[in-house]
Amino acid sequence: MYTSVLDRDVDHILVSAEEIDRITTHIAARIDEDYRETEGKLLLLGILKGSVVFMGDLMKKITVPVEIDFMKVSSYRGDTKTSGRIKIYLDLNRTDISECNILIIEDIIDSGRTLSYLTEYLRLNGAKSVRTCTLLDKPSRREVDFEADYVGTTIPDEFAIGYGLDYAEKYRALPYVGVLKPEIYTK
Ligand code: IMP
Ligand code: MG
Repeated sequence: MYTSVLDRDVDHILVSAEEIDRITTHIAARIDEDYRETEGKLLLLGILKGSVVFMGDLMKKITVPVEIDFMKVSSYRGDTKTSGRIKIYLDLNRTDISECNILIIEDIIDSGRTLSYLTEYLRLNGAKSVRTCTLLDKPSRREVDFEADYVGTTIPDEFAIGYGLDYAEKYRALPYVGVLKPEIYTK
């Protein structure tokens, strides 16, 4: 196990690299099973930037053919607070959306606003089907009623970093999900 200088900012680990590996294996097997007979393309749609590490690992384990694309949206202003509004910074520009079974890949569901907005948006734009997959879920934080189709694991109401998730753009490259020491947030 290698360590990063950023490891020393971590107070405790929420999901270890080994656990994440088991989660991605399990979800990939379910996706294979669920989409094997599905007509049309399977499009993994990563939500930038938080989902990139999860999506990279997951897509290597999926054996049905996939295409990938990305959107960049934000519901989330400042550092540890989630605002109510969704803004699209990078949209999906495809002419074949009606042939796409879209599986949105997210790092974490918090209020539920991002994914409930996005699923609706993609359905209105004519996607053949829309499902959602998230590594982490904080059900205690929901502001709108939303459940993902594939959930890696639920976590308590703590601010998570690592494995794609950031605090002020740092810690995304850590191979596990953790919580920072309280003094890091007050710096
Ligand atoms: P939602 O729209 O409130 O569900 O927000 C989801 C987005 O908020 C995620 O894609 C993250 O970018 C961000 N977010 C929510 N909780 C955390 C966290 O604990 N760590 C890092 N980012 C978070
Ligand atoms: Mg995100």
